[in-house]
Amino acid sequence: MSFKIAVLISGEGTNLQALLDSVHGRDGIEVVAVAASRADARGLERARSAGVETGVFAVADHPDRAARDRALAAWLDERGPDLLVLAGFMELLTPAFIRRFPGRIVNIHPALLPSFAGLRAIAQALEYGVRIAGVTVHFVDEGMDSGPIILQEAFELPYHRDIEAMSEREIEEVEELFHEVEHRLLPRAVRLIAAGRVSVDPDNPRLVRVEPDG
Ligand code: GRF
Repeated sequence: MSFKIAVLISGEGTNLQALLDSVHGRDGIEVVAVAASRADARGLERARSAGVETGVFAVADHPDRAARDRALAAWLDERGPDLLVLAGFMELLTPAFIRRFPGRIVNIHPALLPSFAGLRAIAQALEYGVRIAGVTVHFVDEGMDSGPIILQEAFELPYHRDIEAMSEREIEEVEELFHEVEHRLLPRAVRLIAAGRVSVDPDNPRLVRVEPDG
């Protein structure tokens, strides 16, 4: 029995690559589809190189966002995923979409939620001047980055200058710190879910039980 995942992306797709490299084709887990919100998402090529089916679902190609989400949901449904992974999918999905996959959508966010939800999370952390940053994998609900938390990992941020004064290279170096953690945490979360080790507490749906993976 295979555990099928579909990955939704908008850009570079390094988190998708981490899943393709360390999860896809192992322990019965298979990436069966990759959908992008933009045709120029670099991650689409990563999916094609791995022989994974791709689709592009840009809002601009549909009458509105609700129609795009319906088309996307129908396409995904045909591929029968057990889990949808938002890996750098930079758009909010409509409540109707989310209700079609109850408890089966996860997202990775480059911050220790509930701090710095929304766009530009890394920039928000740098602007705020936090010394501890981190990454969160959480279930997706109808809010923005607000669903129950599955895994988090924190790390210390090196001192940095005002973000306005940082060079592109310096910003990229900080982003690398986040990516390194993301590329470990997201595959781990997917493996745990596929192994049936993640469950929502029936008495309090904010709380997620995770059986250790040793
Ligand atoms: C990641 O930092 C992810 O946490 C955020 O968007 C970024 C996507 O990066 N939601 P990539 O496309 O996986 O390289």
